[in-house]
Amino acid sequence: MVSETKINPVQFKKLSNIVYTESGIVLNEKKYTLLVARIAKRMRMTKTSCVSDYIDLISNSPDEFNNFIDATTTNHTFFFRENNHCEFMIKTLDNTKPLKIWSAASSSGEEAFSLAVQLLANKFSFTIYASDVSDSMLKQGKRAIYPKERVRVVPRSILYTYFQKGTGKWQDHVKVKPEVQTYVRFEKFNLLSDTPVDTFDIIFCRNVMIYFDTQTRQKVVSTLCRALNPGGYFFVGLSENLHGLDHSLITILPSGYQKK
Ligand SMILES: C[S@@+](CC[C@H](N)C(=O)[O-])C[C@H]1O[C@@H](n2cnc3c(N)ncnc32)[C@H](O)[C@@H]1O
Repeated sequence: MVSETKINPVQFKKLSNIVYTESGIVLNEKKYTLLVARIAKRMRMTKTSCVSDYIDLISNSPDEFNNFIDATTTNHTFFFRENNHCEFMIKTLDNTKPLKIWSAASSSGEEAFSLAVQLLANKFSFTIYASDVSDSMLKQGKRAIYPKERVRVVPRSILYTYFQKGTGKWQDHVKVKPEVQTYVRFEKFNLLSDTPVDTFDIIFCRNVMIYFDTQTRQKVVSTLCRALNPGGYFFVGLSENLHGLDHSLITILPSGYQKK
């Protein structure tokens, strides 16, 4: 039971250190209840009876370690979230030049597919690399099936053209059409520890750095700026910014930057 699970201060420190080291996410004491709820769920799934046994389990099982990191990340997202960045791209960029786009921290893929359908509707030529640290989110992105409420703000014409309606037990879901899926490649990438092997014209890294401390944000921004082509665009979430970080980007709109 969730309410019966207790994490003592030493265990809390140990678990939050694991999360920080692996994903960069800071779990301070205010996040105690959240960590308890998520650990309790994993303990039920793995039939583990106490927190110390669960700590042993994640130390010895790489699979459960991944499940634990998955369980501690916030994956909330939806189609056409903070869409002004995409509208800016469509208005500003030349649709005759192929674009390489990276949705870093893509969660279950809604950001990447939102870009894909709008770029297709405006006859752009492009590829999108969508990455996340969470295996389960990447799996959902590759499956491309979403509950209807995630497409609530998608214009009808786009829904009609690029999505399939579910039927039977899937009637409350939509699926991104296979031809749209071919534009998006999902792969695991940890912003903290992996090195990009490619460069991009546009990078979206939205609504993830809010969970990081300044040191981690600096590391991530430096990594992503190196992967951005000169003149390329970099977008963070609307509640995020790059204040106080060292970078060579110029601000072009709220939470939107360009590499000189
Ligand atoms: C709130 S979602 C943001 C999704 C999307 N970008 C948006 O703005 O709607 C944050 C995502 O960041 C991912 N994440 C957290 N730490 C990460 C890391 N170190 N490397 C890559 N992804 C990470 C989480 O797994 C989660 O899916």
